[in-house]
Amino acid sequence: TVEDGVRTFQLTAGQGTTSFLGIGDAETWGFNGAFLGPTLRAERGERVAFEIDNQLPEATSVHWHGMHLPAAMDGGPHQMIEQGETWRSTWTIDQPASTLWYHPHPHGETEKHVYLGLAGMFILDDDASLAADLPSEYGVDDLPLIVQDKEFDNSGRLALNDDGSEPGTLGDTVMVNGTVGAYQEVTTEQVRLRLLNGSTARTYTFEMPDRPMTLISTDGGFLDAPVEMDQVRLAPGERAEVVVSFDAGETVRLHSSKTDLGGIVVPATSGGNDEFDVLEFRAAATLTPSSEPSWPQAKDAVADELHEDEASVTRDFVLNTREINGEQMDMNRIDEVVHVGATEVWEVRSTQPIPHSFHIHDVQFRVLSIDGREPPPELAGPKDTIYLNPNLTYRLLVRFEDYADPTMPYMYHCHMLLHEDEGMMGQFVVI
Ligand code: C2O
Ligand code: CU
Ligand code: CU
Repeated sequence: TVEDGVRTFQLTAGQGTTSFLGIGDAETWGFNGAFLGPTLRAERGERVAFEIDNQLPEATSVHWHGMHLPAAMDGGPHQMIEQGETWRSTWTIDQPASTLWYHPHPHGETEKHVYLGLAGMFILDDDASLAADLPSEYGVDDLPLIVQDKEFDNSGRLALNDDGSEPGTLGDTVMVNGTVGAYQEVTTEQVRLRLLNGSTARTYTFEMPDRPMTLISTDGGFLDAPVEMDQVRLAPGERAEVVVSFDAGETVRLHSSKTDLGGIVVPATSGGNDEFDVLEFRAAATLTPSSEPSWPQAKDAVADELHEDEASVTRDFVLNTREINGEQMDMNRIDEVVHVGATEVWEVRSTQPIPHSFHIHDVQFRVLSIDGREPPPELAGPKDTIYLNPNLTYRLLVRFEDYADPTMPYMYHCHMLLHEDEGMMGQFVVI
């Protein structure tokens, strides 16, 4: 509802039962329902307000992943909602059109809460995205796709592997928006897919047979120019918007193939050895012609250009065995102090032979280089989460625009949620 210019949302986190096709009933958690949560949507410049009611059997929190907002509104581990309590969060949307998401962030329990079903998409629009000629009819030719893998035990319950083994739970059942074996009817020549890797540990390499996927947007907004991709790889927490074309009457599958890491041998630790069909598209016998897509102009879409020559500080982050820079997360320790308005370079590296998925709250960064080389075009847009190939240095350019608050930290962490829960997280304040 919109009142006095504030767009207000009510969310209730609770337990329920979900029937998974071919598997049976399982206890799940969700927002305003048994599993997952509603897609939230707002426009740049709007003020949003949330009332979140916790009807779960334990405390949780709700974090706005990818959102630029005050730390006290961020929904991280310092904004816990006790059982039966309500938490209010409000801010003004001030960032480009993008596909963001929301999920719990209770320290040590995030993997479980997300795995049981607490997650949803948060779509932002702006003048440029509304003016662009892109498939944009929600649920018809503009599809939110939350991709997750689950494991079911013999009695059909959602099973979380909690023995601490790498990389956390890798399920053998892949679902889209909570549906196993999902299909989607296609009625238009072109369809926009908003892909979210909402898995707790698995990395996907998406592809579609016989056609490119035109990548238009990454985590935090549109690319300067669309890029035709054969494969789109997403680590946990990452998003991508792609436009794909269909022929009348055809049936095609979105597939996740084995992950080719360019010669780097990574074992099954991020699910890279597995292949899945993710979603089947069934195109109608006649399709509504789509007009030639027009892309938002980069100068409109990307409001705040980042400039490397303005960077005043370089910080190093080394990820290894549940630690960042040799330390595990401590709720009472501030790891980094950043000055409001500063542009910085964050150099991030996994020194283990396994990949990680590095995420920074509050900001969208630019990848300057990967081991000294220019990032590929698909990593040249705004990002808040990035797949870290082992032993490569990722130089990220970050600007901490506003919202100084010396009393409340933001998080940075690995988005493989077992890693995060077990300590691969740190805290920064903006002062
Ligand atoms: Cu998507 Cu700190 O999280
Ligand atoms: Cu986040
Ligand atoms: Cu990790």
